[in-house]
Amino acid sequence: MTNAGDLSAGDTGRNELCAALENRYNQFMARMLSSSGVMQDPAVMFPKLAELIGYLDSIDHRADLATLGRLLAKLDVSRCDIATTCIFGVKGYRRNCISKSEWYELVACCWHSGDRTPIHDHRGVSCAFKVVEGEGTEIRFAETPSGLICPTMSVKMPTGYICAADDSDIHQVANMQAAGQDLITLHIYSPPIRKMHTYEWGAASTVEAGDCYETPC
Ligand SMILES: [Fe+2]
Repeated sequence: MTNAGDLSAGDTGRNELCAALENRYNQFMARMLSSSGVMQDPAVMFPKLAELIGYLDSIDHRADLATLGRLLAKLDVSRCDIATTCIFGVKGYRRNCISKSEWYELVACCWHSGDRTPIHDHRGVSCAFKVVEGEGTEIRFAETPSGLICPTMSVKMPTGYICAADDSDIHQVANMQAAGQDLITLHIYSPPIRKMHTYEWGAASTVEAGDCYETPC
């Protein structure tokens, strides 16, 4: 059983951990600033991403999904190549921005075991990503005439796997590996996601059976 004191102590520890992570991220961002205060070129800081960032910096429109897939396929990148951006969250997966403009954001997503996105689609945004380390799982859904969504398949995504999501694709991405096994993915969104369209699906819980359906008696 947990009492209020335990919750308070847990929150304090979590807040301290959050603060430590923020501090580390701020230190990273500070290293990206030159003495003039201008952000260093991410393509210089992360040479293996130079071609990809060069393309992304050149666009003045929404990126073509097939092009993103081709660029990610050519990419030979591992955790050590983007280590300074590989920062994990404590309340779920964490998005670490590497480079961005009005037309894109390039993000290293770090997932502990059990971390997951909401179920979502990508209306208005081109989204493609590559698994840099670990194995991810993608669960795909389809809309039904009822208005409910229905899971259609799940896909294991080993290191090197590339996923490109069309506007209407509905999916959830998760790290379903055992505790201690990290997942790192490199995502491109074009344009940057400002609002995410999400869907509800049942999570495990215990409720009164009678609350789940209507019964005449
Ligand atoms: Fe997605």
